[in-house]
Amino acid sequence: MSTTNNELRVGMVGYAFMGAAHSQAWRTVNRVYDLPARARMALICGRDAGKVADAADRLGWDEHTTDWRELVNRPDIDVVDICTPGDSHAEIALAALAAGKHVLCEKPLANTVAEAREMAAAAATAQAGGARSMCGFNYRRVPAVALMRQLIADGRLGEIRHVRATYLQDWIVDPQFPLVWRLRKEVSGSGALGDIGAHIIDLTQYVTGQRISGVSAVTETFVKERPLPAESSGLAAQADGAGAATGPVTVDDAAIFVARLDGGALATYEATRFATGRKNALRVEINGSLGSVAFDLERLNELEFLDATRPAAEQGFNRILVTEAEHPYLSAWWPPGHIIGYEHSFTHQMRDFIEAVATGVDPSPSFAEALQVQLVLDAVTRSAELGSSWAAVEPSMATAAA
Ligand SMILES: NC(=O)c1ccc[n+]([C@@H]2O[C@H](COP(=O)([O-])OP(=O)(O)OC[C@H]3O[C@@H](n4cnc5c(N)ncnc54)[C@H](O)[C@@H]3O)[C@@H](O)[C@H]2O)c1
Repeated sequence: MSTTNNELRVGMVGYAFMGAAHSQAWRTVNRVYDLPARARMALICGRDAGKVADAADRLGWDEHTTDWRELVNRPDIDVVDICTPGDSHAEIALAALAAGKHVLCEKPLANTVAEAREMAAAAATAQAGGARSMCGFNYRRVPAVALMRQLIADGRLGEIRHVRATYLQDWIVDPQFPLVWRLRKEVSGSGALGDIGAHIIDLTQYVTGQRISGVSAVTETFVKERPLPAESSGLAAQADGAGAATGPVTVDDAAIFVARLDGGALATYEATRFATGRKNALRVEINGSLGSVAFDLERLNELEFLDATRPAAEQGFNRILVTEAEHPYLSAWWPPGHIIGYEHSFTHQMRDFIEAVATGVDPSPSFAEALQVQLVLDAVTRSAELGSSWAAVEPSMATAAA
């Protein structure tokens, strides 16, 4: 599909957390970056007519609808941006691809491997007709993470031996926190594993260029029953919104696993919603034969780098302030030292997506790459169910074809 007058008319489904983050990015991207096409915030979809009208007004969308099928089938929509929970990703993405639209879908790609396979296959078919698709692993687009990847790709770490990744939250430590959609498997697919574990799986594979080949895992659901929410809501739901009735938590609260990467590295991963005091603490450290790097999302403008080729007396972790024009994504932003934040990762995501679509190349992570993450999630679940037995990660279409 080509763009119309160099305009990409976007239709977005879902208007809460990610809907707001994506809106901010769509609003900003063409004002910051000089791109071959402009995004137009054409149509937003939500299930409640009044709320979606408010959201359209607040977030800056031209029109609104309560029917995502109308959105994906409208001839004047070029891009479908999916910001709904995982239970609707496959249905919306498949319909959008069948209608020839470019698709940006939030992570994790789907709730099951079967859905993810179908989506990756549909994306490959649609690609022949010019439709592009991408999954929203936005942390790849934090400049310090992109710099980490560059350093590793340039050989500055030598042979990668260790990958250490944690993603820690605490928003459901209170057992009275209600049973929101993220705690129901039929809506979310899994718990901490697919929600935040998927990010560190993708991020570490992206920066190292290595794929997880097998895992041994434990998962736990610490609080097994929770009050039903007064009204189903997302991360912002408050415990005092809960009623007297309760329901079972059907996902993991925490997932921890060790892994082997196909380039020879050993890795540890921890994803939990029970790390009391940790709000959104994503940290990755990588150790190689020639050096180490460490990234902490709470200090996202910084990258720690140890260069072990320097004289021993001068070695130590250097704090690189990743705000130079030479650093990834940053030449369009502010003068050096004028830091950026969380939302910028989404603006960078939209930049890469628009550029790929407008120039006719495949954006990354593709649905095939996101399927591979789904296969890792599946291996973790299988291993945990089998008392932590080793579970090999099934080859995805991408690796099988390679
Ligand atoms: N990239 C990230 O860092 C990140 C962060 C949070 C969430 N996510 C992902 O984004 C997606 C949405 O999460 P969220 O936190 O924005 O959830 P949310 O609960 O804040 O918002 C979900 C939105 O989807 C709408 N919705 C649900 N089902 C729908 C349907 N059938 N038709 C139309 N609208 C529907 C809801 O009304 C709401 O507007 C999930 O896949 C989640 O994993 C990604």
